[in-house]
Amino acid sequence: MPRYEGVSPSVIRRLPRYYRFLEDLQRRDVHRISSRELSSLMNLTASQIRQDLNCFGGFGQQGYGYNVDALLSEIGNILGLSREYRSILIGAGNLGLAIAKHMSFESKGFNLIGIFDKNKELVGTPVRHLVISDINRLENFCKTFSPQAAILCIPKPAAQEIADKLIHLGIKGFWNFSHYDLTMDYPDIAVENVHLGDSLMTLCYQVSEILE
Ligand code: NAI
Repeated sequence: MPRYEGVSPSVIRRLPRYYRFLEDLQRRDVHRISSRELSSLMNLTASQIRQDLNCFGGFGQQGYGYNVDALLSEIGNILGLSREYRSILIGAGNLGLAIAKHMSFESKGFNLIGIFDKNKELVGTPVRHLVISDINRLENFCKTFSPQAAILCIPKPAAQEIADKLIHLGIKGFWNFSHYDLTMDYPDIAVENVHLGDSLMTLCYQVSEILE
């Protein structure tokens, strides 16, 4: 049973953006913002913001606007950021290492507890607070530490087999960079398929329109 039944996926998809803007305001010591200021900052209409936030009970007050700290914390709760998800990363190549080194997993609730690769030459290499482990150790590791989420940075042909194995080992969510579309195969598992190329193609369209 979803925690917020009836809330459309498009509203949920907008919440991280609210979170990012509010986090930035908090960092700049702004603790209160009118709906008009927030809407112009985010390039949304005030009514869109009201509609989005009303799905969760609404957080604004007439004549006061929004309390940045309270709203940030509520959206964080809705997104489940205050919980902790034990996560592992599979594929410590260029992309995997960049993600492991540069993403602030912990602030988004993801605690990176293991990195795996099949390349024996990489095994033992330190990455942040971890060392890269042999993929052969995956099963034992999962049985011992029960990770809940996996970041897939392996090539497409390897993705399905690894995903099947990980689901069998208890993984409930994938941040999937492998270009293999996992969504269709596993309706009960949370999957975010990430394709940076899609974003680039959207930019391509916009630039070509400008150059027209
Ligand atoms: P890479 O070749 O540097 O790294 C891939 C790593 O995965 C290697 O270290 C390899 O040993 C490991 N690996 C392969 N099969 C494995 C298996 N079965 N178990 C464990 N480890 C395994 O490649 P790179 O640049 O890091 O890219 C990784 C994948 O991500 C590629 O398939 C690429 O197409 C894709 N990619 C996706 C992007 C996106 O936006 N979704 C952006 C960039 C790359």
